[in-house]
Amino acid sequence: MVSYKELGLVNTREMFAKAIKGGYAIPAFNFNNMEQLQAIIKAAAEEKSPVILQVSKGARNYANATLLRYMAQGAVAYAKELGWENPQIVLHLDHRDSFELCKSCIDSGFSSVMIDGSHLPYEENVALTKKVVDYAHQYDVTVEGELGVLAGVEDEVSSDHHTYTDPEEVIDFATRTGCDSLAISIGTSHGAYKFTPEQCTRDPKTGLLVPPPLAFEVLDAVMEKLPGFPIVLHGSSSVPQEYVKTINELGGKLPDAIGIPEEELRKAAKSAVCKINIDSDSRLAMTAAIRKVFTDKPGEFDPRKYLGPARDEMERLYKHKIENVLGSNGKAE
Ligand code: G3H
Ligand code: 13P
Ligand code: ZN
Repeated sequence: MVSYKELGLVNTREMFAKAIKGGYAIPAFNFNNMEQLQAIIKAAAEEKSPVILQVSKGARNYANATLLRYMAQGAVAYAKELGWENPQIVLHLDHRDSFELCKSCIDSGFSSVMIDGSHLPYEENVALTKKVVDYAHQYDVTVEGELGVLAGVEDEVSSDHHTYTDPEEVIDFATRTGCDSLAISIGTSHGAYKFTPEQCTRDPKTGLLVPPPLAFEVLDAVMEKLPGFPIVLHGSSSVPQEYVKTINELGGKLPDAIGIPEEELRKAAKSAVCKINIDSDSRLAMTAAIRKVFTDKPGEFDPRKYLGPARDEMERLYKHKIENVLGSNGKAE
């Protein structure tokens, strides 16, 4: 058993309480490799922003679970080396649907886990989430539950349509499970294609797709039922159109990729939404930067020469999210 406290990590409890009070949200960035992790830590350390490092099942399969945990431990040391005396870093398991996997992450140093029973019948979701909470809380590990289904792919769980969270269920769910935060569905989804062109309108001037609004009335109703309870938004990449354009112009193929407008995320961050999940935007930043290098310098074959610029671009993106979207800069001095 390795406690996250020995690794210098923190859980989400105090971080979320402060975020709700302060009207900002904590960035939850997925990581799969060293360059992403370096960019996240550099951005968080320079911005003095609390940060959640998220590990999906895909990331565990890609990079090896043990290695990822040691990388997170290394991230704490790296943050200190960068001059961040008191790093506020959470190591969080993203979207897992079994007690056993959550337990193994808790036992190996994760400070927070998500148990995603959103695809299960309600009573089964309650029972599974409670089982994970009962185990996690013995070690002061915080737990995120989910109610409502996001469209798109959540690891192996996929659905082609949303089921918004039912605000009538949230009090019962939070009380009976004891979860520390709740992911809800209000129209966000995973990946770079959050809406079909048919669901959008087109800006006559730019020709760009304009997505339909998020269901803020569902968020408002949830907040009314559970005042001050930490809410989480998954699928919150904005799919920056400059990256999509660069990728498409330089040989890529991402037709009609579209995300959540930043104004909507800014609005959410000021509410009880205190954790905002971003993965796809970092993938786009990396891909655009690498395509640029390969176009400008076709003879380049030293990975540091294309992964370096990709890392710089991701760092710029993370800083932008922290400063201009979530407002978490300066909150972990
Ligand atoms: O849940 C979605 C995240 O973006 C993780 O994606 O399963 O491809 O690593 P992944
Ligand atoms: P995006 O695909 O919008 O980045 O969402 C990531 C996410 O929710 C990870 O759990
Ligand atoms: Zn997610």
